[in-house]
Amino acid sequence: MFLILLLGYFIAQSFSHTITSLDAPLFADPRRAAELRCQYTKLPHDPPLHSVKWYRDNHEIFRYTPQEFETRVFNDTGIIIVNSSCSLQSCSILVRPERGASRYTCEVSSEGPRFAVHRQSTNMTLAVLPEYDPLITGLPTLVYPDEEAVVNCTSDHSLPPAEIHWFVDEKPQEDPLLSSGTYVSRADGDGLAASWRALHIVADDFATHRGYLSLKCRATVRTRPPIERSMAVRLYVARRPHISKFTANTASGCGQVIVQCNAVASVFWTLFLLSIRTKCL
Ligand SMILES: *[C@@H]1O[C@H](CO)[C@@H](O)[C@H](O)[C@H]1NC(C)=O
Ligand SMILES: *[C@@H]1O[C@H](CO)[C@@H](O)[C@H](O)[C@H]1NC(C)=O
Ligand SMILES: *[C@@H]1O[C@H](CO)[C@@H](O)[C@H](O)[C@H]1NC(C)=O
Ligand SMILES: *[C@@H]1O[C@H](CO)[C@@H](O)[C@H](O)[C@H]1NC(C)=O
Repeated sequence: MFLILLLGYFIAQSFSHTITSLDAPLFADPRRAAELRCQYTKLPHDPPLHSVKWYRDNHEIFRYTPQEFETRVFNDTGIIIVNSSCSLQSCSILVRPERGASRYTCEVSSEGPRFAVHRQSTNMTLAVLPEYDPLITGLPTLVYPDEEAVVNCTSDHSLPPAEIHWFVDEKPQEDPLLSSGTYVSRADGDGLAASWRALHIVADDFATHRGYLSLKCRATVRTRPPIERSMAVRLYVARRPHISKFTANTASGCGQVIVQCNAVASVFWTLFLLSIRTKCL
């Protein structure tokens, strides 16, 4: 019985270094080399490290053999390794990512007699960045302090789709009633999708406004580090009290209101007068 347990113990021992982490960006920025990092540990009775190999899909692209103080780059797959840094604990390579998605595998093997190996894989996809800055639509020329405005921010097609955040006077607007979530369009043939997010805003809710509020929309593509593009506009707020106050004041006596129009609000005031007239009839 004891012998079987002992045998089981030795079989369970891999006699191999174990990969503890494999780290690569899920989405790589096409403008820079991406770092892939593999870390491994050795148990006290494991034999020394024999080699560390990197594969792109099933092709070996890099090999580190510490006994020979050697690193080799295999260049026939078209993948370009710009730099590397390997030790008995970890091995990093810097690669120029290629279009689409690739699977990268780190494989560590320990010295004989078993040359036992341990491997782990991860996927990395080349990001496609938005070509244009985000676009803000639906901005009114002027709003009354208690009037709700709805503005919309659309980010260009990208992979992965951008996440959109709204800021009013630099403060993030996370309230789900004020700002909807980011909506993502259906992906096109290349997997790219556009995204948009709306913001509901009432100037009276912001102590900061002095005739206008600055609205900023930020689109973030989750590469590592993330890529951000933003667009800012001003929402102008009228100083005059809003129509609802007039309505309240004039409830007792229609026709006593003296109205001064300006060019911007003239259409609005015409409608307002019409509505008063209707009520007085
Ligand atoms: C890749 O191989 C080609 C020849 O096949 C050589 O000209 C080029 O310099 C190599 N690139 C690297 C990064 O080793
Ligand atoms: C390659 O990496 C080493 C150490 O990580 C660093 O000192 C060196 O500057 C890097 N070379 C390039 C060309 O990035
Ligand atoms: C990588 O992607 C392939 C195909 O899309 C999938 O089958 C596999 O599970 C992914 N691997 C990892 C480690 O995410
Ligand atoms: C925002 O714009 C997108 C198109 O860019 C449109 O599909 C969406 O319906 C708009 N949302 C709102 C609330 O206007």
